[in-house]
Amino acid sequence: MLIDGQATRTIQPVGDGAVEIIDQTLLPHAVERVRLSALDDYLHAIKDMLVRGAPLIGVTAAFGLARALMDDASDAGLDTAVAALAATRPTAVNLFWALERVSQVVRPLALSARADAAHAEAVAIAEEDVAACRAIGEHGAALIEAAARDAKWPVNVLTHCNAGWLATVDWGTALAPIYVAAERGVAVHVWVDETRPRNQGAALTAFELGQQGIAHTVIVDNVGGHLMQHGLVQLVITGADRVTANGDAANKIGTYLKALAAKDNGVPFHVAAPLSTIDWRLSDGVREIAIEERDAREVTWMAGRTADGARAEVQVVAPGSPAANFAFDVTPARLITGFITEFGLAAPDELAGRWGPRVAARA
Ligand code: MRU
Repeated sequence: MLIDGQATRTIQPVGDGAVEIIDQTLLPHAVERVRLSALDDYLHAIKDMLVRGAPLIGVTAAFGLARALMDDASDAGLDTAVAALAATRPTAVNLFWALERVSQVVRPLALSARADAAHAEAVAIAEEDVAACRAIGEHGAALIEAAARDAKWPVNVLTHCNAGWLATVDWGTALAPIYVAAERGVAVHVWVDETRPRNQGAALTAFELGQQGIAHTVIVDNVGGHLMQHGLVQLVITGADRVTANGDAANKIGTYLKALAAKDNGVPFHVAAPLSTIDWRLSDGVREIAIEERDAREVTWMAGRTADGARAEVQVVAPGSPAANFAFDVTPARLITGFITEFGLAAPDELAGRWGPRVAARA
C-alpha cells in the first residue's frame, strides 16, 4: 500500500539474511526504516513492537530464523533460535505457525543447505501473506458492497486496533475489504477505535487509511456502542491473533466488548483472518488462548508528539497507582457473524469442516 504515494511493504529482504522494516513505534509522526541484521535485532523488533500484527509477526520470525541459521545451522542452533523467537509474544499463533513451517522444511536438510532453504521459505510465507490478504479483501468487499445496497451512503465500518497493511506484509486483513471496496467505487467511512493503551488505531489505522485516501474518524475506545445504538455502524470488521477451530477469536483488548455491542444492536460482526491465524488444536478460546500481559508502563504513560514536533512521553496515571495491561481478549464464536478468509466467507461453525487440517489432508 501507499506511503506518500509510494507503494510500500512492511518488510523487505535486503540481502545477507537482513530485512528492512518500518519502525511502527514511531508512526504516524516519522516513517523510519530499520535494518534487522542479527537474531537479536529480530527478537527486539517483535518483542518491542517495531513490527506487530499477527501475520507480520509470523513473517518477521521466519526471516529471523533464517538469519539465525546462517550463524548456527545445527539442530541445537535451530532449537535455540526457535525457542528465542517463540518467547517474544505469546498470543498471535502466526508466530508459532511460521516457526514450525520453516523448521519442518529445514530439519531434514544438510546443515549447509538450511539457511538458504529457510530464507526461501520465509520469502514464500511473505508472498503467500500478500496473496491471502488481497483475497480476503476481495471476499470481504462483497459484504461492504451488499451493505452499500441496503444502507445510506457511505457504508460505515467500525474497526478495532490495526489489522491493516501495517499488520501484514501488504493489504491487511480487516482493512483489505475496505481497500478493495474503495477500489470498486463504494463509498466507505471507517470508525477507528483509538485502541488504548498503545493506540494502534489512532497511530496506525488512521495513518494508513489517510495515506490511501479513505474517509475515517478516530473515536475513543468506548464510543462504538453509542454509534451502533444510533444506526451509525453498518458492519464491524476486526482482525484476529488466534482463532480456535470452533471459531472463538482472540484479538486486541476491547474487541469482545465491540462484539457484545454489535450483537445487542443487530450489527454484523466479522473477523478477517488468513488460515495461518487458525489454531486448529484449540476449541475453547477463553480457556486455551494465552493472553499476553505487557508492561504496566504502557497504561500509565502515553507517547506522542508535542506542539513543536518533538516526541514525548507523558504520565497519565497518578504515580504509584498500579495498572494492569492485558493485551488481548477473546470474542466467543456465538458473537461472530462470520469469518473472512482467503478462501471465502464462513460462519464460525463452518471453519473446521471447510478448511480444517483433516479436510486439507484429504484434498
Ligand atoms: O499488539 P498488536 O498490535 O500486535 O495487536 C494487533 C492486533 O490485535 C490485530 O488486530 C491482529 O494482529 C490482526 S492483524 C492483521
